[in-house]
Amino acid sequence: NTGNLKTAATTFSVGMITRASFINGGGQHTEILKDEFNNLTSEYEMKMNVMYPSQGNYDFSAGDVIVNFAQANNMDVHGHALIWHNATPSWVENFAGTDAEFEAMIEDYITTTVNHFKGKVRSWDVVNEALEDGTGHPLRNSVFRQKMGDDYIKKCFQFARNADPDAILFYNDYNMASSPTKRAAMFALVDDLGDLIDGVGAQMHISYNGPSAANIQAVADGTVSRGLKLHFAELDIRTNPEGDSSVSSLSSDKANSQKAKFKEVVEIYNAIPLDNKFALTVWGLRDNESWLIDFWGVPDWPLLYDENYNRKPAYDGFIEAL
Ligand code: XIL
Repeated sequence: NTGNLKTAATTFSVGMITRASFINGGGQHTEILKDEFNNLTSEYEMKMNVMYPSQGNYDFSAGDVIVNFAQANNMDVHGHALIWHNATPSWVENFAGTDAEFEAMIEDYITTTVNHFKGKVRSWDVVNEALEDGTGHPLRNSVFRQKMGDDYIKKCFQFARNADPDAILFYNDYNMASSPTKRAAMFALVDDLGDLIDGVGAQMHISYNGPSAANIQAVADGTVSRGLKLHFAELDIRTNPEGDSSVSSLSSDKANSQKAKFKEVVEIYNAIPLDNKFALTVWGLRDNESWLIDFWGVPDWPLLYDENYNRKPAYDGFIEAL
């Protein structure tokens, strides 16, 4: 297949993240967004710490920039993420009030936010990364769990459902392929949500050498067997999981392994039934923009484009899978 990503992917949306500054900056960045992708996610400006910086004071301005660009260019917007322990404003972490007041505040936040974007944001990650990595209790002991109880996730989904019954509601988390234990915990959580949830977002922060195709397939199979939509979210493929700080460029070996892995992921996604399809979202446009570089503190080239906006072999792997 040739052409661009969104045309090659005839049965699902191809998503990309962006920032208000990229949209305002225009140029090659927005040209590629328009040409290649048909679903947009805000990288960090539709998280609670940005949208709700202090009590009673909402700020949707950055999200609006992204949403307006998407609307003008016939792209869907995926809302990411209403509740995430890692993007909680400090006034919420240190909430001054009773548990009942906390819950009422969260209901107001979800209702106000979903209402603001109603008809413009087609889908939401309602809760992101609620599951613990290690053993012990499956749920992370976030401020939300502490104040609203173990069923806080269900409550949040209900608030979102009430606010926009047409929105497609996702639970989103990482290591779904690499950790069978966490995957099982995620499906138990999802089963408990019943009709309140429409889909599973499996963050695909993976590496050129793993997880295996069989483990990625297991995420797809578990989602499909439940009749839910699957979002292969946050796809990036590390080429330096060894953490070598001296590596200064992407070798052709690594570039080719990365290409093969992109192709594998897209092939697995493309093969699921149409009803379960939603979108496959890549977490960043150019290698030098990837969050992974700061996160791991070593060089990497995890995306489809190099820093000069050239398509990498990874891009070819994506399109060859279709
Ligand atoms: C990251 C963004 O890329 C960064 O810009 C931001 O500072 C922190 O969050 N899992 C998620 C994403 O669900 O929201 C994270 O995005 C990456 C890990």
